[in-house]
Amino acid sequence: MRAPYGERAVIISVDGETNTTADSLYEALDSLFQSHERLIAGITGYWIYLNHYGWEVLKNNGAVEAMATELPSLEYLREGLEAVVRNIYFGEIKRWAVKTMSERLRLAFIGCGGIAGFHAKSLTGELGAEVVALCDPNKEAVARLKAAAPQLGGAKEYSDYVEMLDRESLDGVLILTPHVYHKEQILEALRRGLHVFVEKPMVSSVDEAWEVLRAAEGSGRVVAVGYQRRTDGLFGYIKRMASPEGLGRPVYIEHQLSQDWTGLSKGTWRADPRIAGGGFLMDSGSHIVDMVLWVMGGLPREVYAALSSKEGWGAELVAAITARFDGCVASISLMGDAPLWSERLRIYCPGGLLAYLDELGSRNVWVMDREAQNVRRPMEEVPPSSSPLANFVRAIRGLEKPAAGVEDGLRVAVFKEACYRSAASGAPVKLS
Ligand SMILES: NC(=O)c1ccc[n+]([C@@H]2O[C@H](COP(=O)([O-])OP(=O)(O)OC[C@H]3O[C@@H](n4cnc5c(N)ncnc54)[C@H](O)[C@@H]3O)[C@@H](O)[C@H]2O)c1
Repeated sequence: MRAPYGERAVIISVDGETNTTADSLYEALDSLFQSHERLIAGITGYWIYLNHYGWEVLKNNGAVEAMATELPSLEYLREGLEAVVRNIYFGEIKRWAVKTMSERLRLAFIGCGGIAGFHAKSLTGELGAEVVALCDPNKEAVARLKAAAPQLGGAKEYSDYVEMLDRESLDGVLILTPHVYHKEQILEALRRGLHVFVEKPMVSSVDEAWEVLRAAEGSGRVVAVGYQRRTDGLFGYIKRMASPEGLGRPVYIEHQLSQDWTGLSKGTWRADPRIAGGGFLMDSGSHIVDMVLWVMGGLPREVYAALSSKEGWGAELVAAITARFDGCVASISLMGDAPLWSERLRIYCPGGLLAYLDELGSRNVWVMDREAQNVRRPMEEVPPSSSPLANFVRAIRGLEKPAAGVEDGLRVAVFKEACYRSAASGAPVKLS
């Protein structure tokens, strides 16, 4: 019933399908509380973490939901355990466990291409997680990733992600594959009770996004989407300043992105809309759409888009999009066939202008404050950046919310689909 897990941790497992009786569970709890010094050591030394089953049960019970996000007192923990006992008695749960945060989370990558290398870089020892398995049908991709990221050297290799999920004992997966595979891979992972980090765009259509939302809702699992601007200190600063606590709610936003996207996509899945789900708007443009929706706190009332491409390309390379919000207009300009990589964001607020420029290898932000009548580079006010992977791990532990979640992925899908419809019809598309 109760087994020490590691040196200082306590784990209680209850399986409603075996011969567990309430009495035997109470017995186990008694011995647990008799040795409470050890449990307290576990609590103060680490965070106590309720696994996904525990989280669900406690959430249903209502009383102890905060246990996953706050350091619980012994009393609080006891109440939670007793509530669980009552639930078991009524046969509502299958398994419940407490384990300490000293355990490292076991993660796997599905897809080992370019972006996998980026995430591997943020897999530091302090993160409290390890990548125990890698999956990619292309063995060379796995070998390249392992060569570039020695910390993944011990990870087991698979070419079929379903087989990997069947064989490995995991806490979560990172889905780092071409866009049209995302939905099925998210659903498969959720069905197995795993936490999911999925690269942008979450999925490639609104219907798929709703499917993911329905599967994620009530699952008790984290589903995070890879919009790294949200864990970047500079963008976090911009988001805070473009609000009533900064320069006021935006009245006009210009967000422009140009990339040599045709150069990097030629001959790859990105150039095939059947696998990429679209062109530059679907891919890199998704970051810009997310940023505008993040700053504005939701979808616009109306979207009008003109898209274009060039001969030999099956999907859009250029997009000029106007989005009308209450009291604000956003102009998004995307150029995927450019000789220069550049991102420029200007947010006009009642109190002044926020300007961001990432070009020729340097990133800067300026604030032009109307009241103070000055221009400053507020680098000392910019909070430190985190990483999408660190946010994912901390979200699984209940310490942070996912920086971008399923609803954000859904909103981006709704916005982009409205753009495609508007471009096809030549007319604005109303969203509310
Ligand atoms: N956040 C960002 O800034 C950013 C940047 C680049 C890519 N991405 C996103 O990351 C994802 C992957 O892009 P990439 O640039 O790494 O592409 P990539 O082509 O470099 O790598 C994709 C890998 O997925 C593998 N793969 C294909 N089908 C698979 C399957 N069924 N199971 C396991 N692996 C499979 C491919 O063999 C390939 O190695 C995309 O969603 C992309 O939009 C995000």
